[in-house]
Amino acid sequence: MQIQENFSLKQFNTFGIDVSASHFASFANQDELRLLTEMARKKELFILGGGSNILFTKDFNGWVIRNDIKGIELLKEENNYIYVKAGAGENWHQFVLHCIQKNWAGLENLSLIPGLVGASPMQNIGAYGVEMKEYFFELEALHLKDNKISTFSVNDCEFGYRESIFKKKWKNQFVILSVSFRLNKKPIFNMSYGAIGQELELMGVKDLSIQAISQAVINIRNSKLPDPAVIGNAGSFFKNPSVQASFFEKLKRKFPGLVAYTNLDGSMKLAAGWLIEQCGWKGYRKGDAGCHAKQALVLVNYGHASGKEIYHLSREIASSVHKKFGVELETEVNII
Ligand code: FAD
Ligand code: EPU
Repeated sequence: MQIQENFSLKQFNTFGIDVSASHFASFANQDELRLLTEMARKKELFILGGGSNILFTKDFNGWVIRNDIKGIELLKEENNYIYVKAGAGENWHQFVLHCIQKNWAGLENLSLIPGLVGASPMQNIGAYGVEMKEYFFELEALHLKDNKISTFSVNDCEFGYRESIFKKKWKNQFVILSVSFRLNKKPIFNMSYGAIGQELELMGVKDLSIQAISQAVINIRNSKLPDPAVIGNAGSFFKNPSVQASFFEKLKRKFPGLVAYTNLDGSMKLAAGWLIEQCGWKGYRKGDAGCHAKQALVLVNYGHASGKEIYHLSREIASSVHKKFGVELETEVNII
């Protein structure tokens, strides 16, 4: 285990922000993790995954420790289900591909989401009609203060839209070590996101399979989301905001093009990308900070933008959306 000092984090966050950490190390097992947390005691500590949902706005005066716990293990098999456990340091997309290759169904709509398995429960990752919580079984996490490992069930995690207990009550208190999933032996195809069907048609798919759905999702994602290896970004910068149905009706009368989806409780989830585009930000660029030309919800770093510049742009965007529509945008990306 190597400990680096004054270490540049540029390669370790998908925004490509060039900040440094006073100390940086990776841990491949619980012993290394315990050793590092002991060394970092009384200093600031940040648990890093793939760095695809964070925006560093300044140098980190403390320890950044990167999860590198690997391993995929088949836990048990039932008539209809497979239980599989993955180390928190496994790459999410590679794990999804592994499941697809074994014909374990459920995660295919979540193909190509960047980052590591350990971060997937943090915000209950979701895309193309599926949320991780639907296939989540349990996770193991180390409590940083008392050094004990606890198991969290789906109810313990209090998952919501881009939410979990690890972003609220237990924020910065646990390190997720592994995540287990309950996957289907017989696939239940989720095509609720309209573009999947269209893409499958374009692909000329006759027999539906989880492989085909995964490829359709990959194609759709590649057509509008910027590849962080080419243009720095962290996916959607804001959450899609929910509003009361009565407020939605009023807004819809004023802005007939408003894009929205009905939540289970009857409230309406507005497409933040539409709100931002209507305020004229789509394709905007100031220096190296910008708003993506194909997806207004994604803020981008064209090369040398600082975290502060991107953050300031995000505040300008949020305040113009508030001024025009009276809607608050909540940040999805973790600002450090
Ligand atoms: P990081 O960014 O490293 O960390 C995120 C947070 O989790 C930090 O607070 C960190 O401290 C904490 N954390 C990470 N690992 C652990 C751990 N083991 N224990 C405790 N805390 C931990 N997200 C979606 O939900 N849906 C999408 O469709 C989607 N598309 C994206 C597309 C692009 C191009 C990009 C760049 C991002 C996208 N994202 C999406 C966001 C991001 O990929 C996910 O949130 C992902 O789960 C973040 O994983 P990570 O390992 O990079 O986490
Ligand atoms: N739209 C616009 N202009 C834009 C972007 C979007 O008008 O520039 C409108 C369009 O009408 C479009 C609708 O908004 O049909 C929805 O857009 P899209 O399908 O691209 O999805 P999104 O709501 O912008 C969400 C997630 C993504 C996830 C996709 C697909 C959030 C915050 N974002 O984006 O997740 O991949 O749906 O399911 O919920 C992420 O969390 O980082 C992320 C990328």
